[in-house]
Amino acid sequence: MPQIINNNLDNRPQIPDAKYKVKDLFNLNIDMNVPGFSNKNEYVPEIDPHYVFDRDTTLSILAGFKFNRRVMIQGFHGTGKSTHIEQVAARLNWGCIRVNLDSHVSRIDLIGKDAIVIEKGSQITKFKEGIIPWSLLNGTALVFDEYDAGRPDVMFVIQRILEVEGKLTLLEQNRVIKPHPSFRLFCTTNTIGLGDTSGLYHGTQQINQGQMDRWNIVSALNYLSKEQEMKIINKKVKNFSDKFSKEKIAFMVELANLTRNGFKNGDISTLMSPRTIITWAENALIFEDIDYAFKVTFLNKCDEAERIIIAEYYQRCLGTELPKTWIAPLGNEIKTENVGK
Ligand SMILES: Nc1ncnc2c1ncn2[C@@H]1O[C@H](COP(=O)(O)OP(=O)(O)OP(=O)(O)O)[C@@H](O)[C@H]1O
Ligand SMILES: [Mg+2]
Repeated sequence: MPQIINNNLDNRPQIPDAKYKVKDLFNLNIDMNVPGFSNKNEYVPEIDPHYVFDRDTTLSILAGFKFNRRVMIQGFHGTGKSTHIEQVAARLNWGCIRVNLDSHVSRIDLIGKDAIVIEKGSQITKFKEGIIPWSLLNGTALVFDEYDAGRPDVMFVIQRILEVEGKLTLLEQNRVIKPHPSFRLFCTTNTIGLGDTSGLYHGTQQINQGQMDRWNIVSALNYLSKEQEMKIINKKVKNFSDKFSKEKIAFMVELANLTRNGFKNGDISTLMSPRTIITWAENALIFEDIDYAFKVTFLNKCDEAERIIIAEYYQRCLGTELPKTWIAPLGNEIKTENVGK
């Protein structure tokens, strides 16, 4: 990872110097131009050439870049929220830094602190900027992942920069920072700021409504269409269809959809995300066995009481009975009344 603090930026232009056609860059049928940079710098993410862009999510992110809107992408885990922002930035050559707002990130981490540094051979105390002042000054896009898991003290620091003209006052330094014209702010969340209503996202908090109000665009990215999901797996796990078959991918996505419906109906408490299917396909190549890969990728994460239901879904989609010892590893009796509920 590049060292971001006190690093001299290259001499790239301060504001976007290129215009890109959305049609060319994102393979979406949208007649729109977006600004970007003609050259990359070290903060521009790597391009994933196989990335499949979702129309609505991409449009929201592009509005964020083009019109300086604050954009929140919300959705279940593993649906491609963080990578969508990163991949849009990668194609616009826009520097983009992701910060995970877990419960250990503190105000000082974001704002900065006095640190002892060595300059010209002697030790001196110097203010070392945190990631927020650094991004504000250098005009990168800043993405707060797991925004709904942030600590309250951290959330109030962010509140200030949510306003487009929001200047940041560094009390520690008696200094006011004006955002660079290319500074952009995005966040991703699993909840919509009302706390965890699904039981899936422990550690998330309610988001203050004053803060929610400052996000200009809230876009939901839950699950993609079956075709889109199959396309992603096909492109991402390239050797899978050679080793097994393309048909299998359709069955795997079907199974994932059954777990999602089962979750919605309250039959099971774990569901398969697009990330789970990608990992399953990758593990199938490692173990050369789709069933065993399923066991270690998903089944072992499920509540034992629910495994029978999942085995039933599996049988329906892939036509294989999973071994009984996988379903009840501790030898507990399998309650058949749960089957096919
Ligand atoms: N549209 C897509 N095209 C290609 N790959 C995708 C797509 N969506 C998701 N993926 C892949 O799925 C995985 C999960 O994506 P990502 O980390 O962006 O999900 P997320 O929604 O941010 O998840 P979380 O809520 O857990 O943070 C990544 O490996 C990513 O490359
Ligand atoms: Mg994410």
